[in-house]
Parts: sequence; structure tokens; C-alpha cells
Amino acid sequence: MNYDIKDIGLAEKGKLSVDWANKSMPVLNSIKERFIKDRPLAGVRLGACLHVTTETASLMETLKAGGAKIALCASNPLSTQDYVAAYLVKYHEIPVFAIRGEDRDTYYSHINSVLSLRPNITMDDGADLVSTIHSEREDLIEGIIGGTEETTTGVIRLKSMAANGVLKFPLIAVNDADTKHLFDNRYGTGQSTIDGIIRATNRLIAGSVFVVCGYGWCSRGLAMRANGMGANVIVTEVNPLRALEAVMDGFRVMPIAEASKIGDFFCTLTGDINVIRKEHFLEMKDGAIVSNSGHFNVELDLESLSGIAEYKGRIREHIDAYKLSNGRYIYILAEGRLINLAAAEGHPSSVMDMSFANQALSAEFLVKRNSDLENTVYSVPQDIDKEIARLKLASLGVRIDILTPEQEKYLSSWQMGT
Ligand code: ADE
Repeated sequence: MNYDIKDIGLAEKGKLSVDWANKSMPVLNSIKERFIKDRPLAGVRLGACLHVTTETASLMETLKAGGAKIALCASNPLSTQDYVAAYLVKYHEIPVFAIRGEDRDTYYSHINSVLSLRPNITMDDGADLVSTIHSEREDLIEGIIGGTEETTTGVIRLKSMAANGVLKFPLIAVNDADTKHLFDNRYGTGQSTIDGIIRATNRLIAGSVFVVCGYGWCSRGLAMRANGMGANVIVTEVNPLRALEAVMDGFRVMPIAEASKIGDFFCTLTGDINVIRKEHFLEMKDGAIVSNSGHFNVELDLESLSGIAEYKGRIREHIDAYKLSNGRYIYILAEGRLINLAAAEGHPSSVMDMSFANQALSAEFLVKRNSDLENTVYSVPQDIDKEIARLKLASLGVRIDILTPEQEKYLSSWQMGT
């Protein structure tokens, strides 16, 4: 078997970590049990480009239990847990191509190694498999049933491909399922981003001015958690509705040009490019700590920052100090790559449980509905979303009410008023 990982000797540590994660993934585990019996993915070749974490290992086990032949590479050069890569190779004979800290060329050569499986299904987190297939490996398109996409940034890329008429196979936007973004983006990113910032810096959040750039689901989660830890939170936005929501949620809202003068911590989660630029770095206080938790490392303009820095050096794992000509120091975390996976371990297993349940069931859906899907971006079907919520509630021991026949009738009638 062909694979490229750091060290197969790390597999035992990987096994213990994956076992620990699995204890918080009851929904995915129940899907795995069914997949073992039903084998809905028998004969399917599945290429995955995901963060190689303990939770991803559970998803890979589930897909393999369903009969899929899998190859996996990383969706970010800094997010791989090398012990998980070793575990998947040693215990499950899954070809993994991922090494934490790999350079850009290795990252893309790993994507190409996964594509050499000639996948029938793609599973992306950021759309790098899909974009590489469309730009360099069009020969694979004929054999592809469809793909799934995990994250907001990837879904935006795919929708833009569909709108431009260039998308050549159907895609399921896993990110848009309610059981994904309402939990993973909000509670997962919220907690793990704070976790990454704290692990990288060991600084106190309480009493600080914490600037959150963006107010989508991930940013809402971060603002809520920073606030809960005693920070004074400022939100920056370009969308008036979201900005208004941030105001009503109790946060100060202002342009980044103003926020840059007063923040102690900054974190971008917008999905857009150059959100914090040269003019903002120049305004920051001495000692400002700046990070990104958006998918790609494009949100901080680090090239301009390097251009205005007299000195740059690593002062601690995950912290680069930049000394500006005004004498102030700016500290950049994890080279501007997503801080929750680079300095911490990503979202906790109990939220990935639902996200990856969506992935597994969407792969099954693609196989079942193979012939009647068009080359566009689909939502996860509502019955899958509701079933995942039902299973999660059951695993938590939470019971809910059901409508009485009278209530059901009332909801589908229009005659009865005051
Ligand atoms: N994205 C964010 N957190 C993750 C995790 N723990 N595993 C896989 N993908 C993730």
C-alpha cells in the first residue's frame, strides 16, 4: 500500500486518541453499525481531503465499514495529527497522505496521490479536491458520482463554480445542514478557537479587548465564548444585518480601522482575503495578538506586515513576533493558518459527531440517487438533518414532545383565527 506519513510508530498513540474521541461520537457510531450490515458504499472509491484528526479517523472507519475504498489527504498543511495518520495506515490499511507542516508542493502532491485512486466520490473540506479535478484532472470527471463539502469557504467556492456553469458533477453542501453549522461552526469553532489562542499564548482573556472580524456562525461562536471568558468583545462586519445582530447581542461594532487601535486580541473568521491589512497593523497597540480561524491563510495580509517589519522571529511555538518601525511588536499566531487546528485539536468530537454523520449519510445519498442528480450544489436532505438531530438527542437522553392530532390539524389549516 502506498502512503506518506510522518512516522508509523505513532500508531499506538493514534489508537488511544481515536478511541477517546469515539466515546463522544454516538451518532456516527450508530451509522457505522448500520453500514457494517448494509454496506451502502460497497465498491465505491472515495477520495477524502479533510483535516486528519481523531474525528476524521472515526469517519474514515465508518466509510470503510460501509464498503468504500478510501484514500485520505490533509485539507490544511498544519492541521494533521501525525499519530492519527499512522493509526489509519496501521490499523485500517487506509492510504493516508498527510504530514503536519508539509510545504505547498507536498500538500498538492498529496492531493494528487488521493486522486490517483480515481475516486467515484470526493469528500472535501475547502474544495481543493474539486478544484484540482476541474483544473488539472478532468479525465476523472466521467467516473465521479458526486462529492460532499464540509466547510463554508468550500461551499462558497462550489456555488461560484455552479453559478459560472463550470461545475461538472453534483455536490452536497454538508456545511449548510442545520446539524452542521448551528453546532460545529458555532460551538465547535467558538470553543476550539479560544482553545488554540490560549494554548499558543497562555494569556488571560478576561479583561482584554477581543476583536472578532466577521459575524457568521463561526464568529458568533467565538464572540460568545470570548465574552463568556470576560473579554470586552468588538465585532467588525461588512453585512448590515449581521452587524445589527452583533449590536443586539450586546457587542460593540465598528470598522476594523477603529478596532485596530484598541484591540488586545484579533481573530478573523470571514472567509475573505486581506481583512487585516498594513494600515491596520500600523495602528495596533504594542503587543497585539493576531490570529485567523477562517479556512484559508488569506485573511491576514502577512506579506505587507513583513514589508513593514524591521525584524521577524519565532519566539515560541505558534508565535511569530514582528517588530515594526514604530517600535511596536505585533504577534501573529500559527502563521495566520486556522488557529483552532494549528495550535489546538480542532472542534471537539461531540460536534464533529453530527458534522461527520452528515458526511457519511450524504455519501450514501449520492450513491442511492446517483443517476438523478444534476451538476449543482445540493443541500443535505431535510430527513437526513432531522434524523441526525433525533439520534443526537437520543444519545443525550433528551426526550421531546410530539404534536397532538389536534395540533397537527391546526398547523395545516387556515380557517381558525382569534
Ligand atoms: N474541522 C474542525 N475541527 C475538526 C476536527 N476536529 N476534525 C476534522 N475536521 C475539523
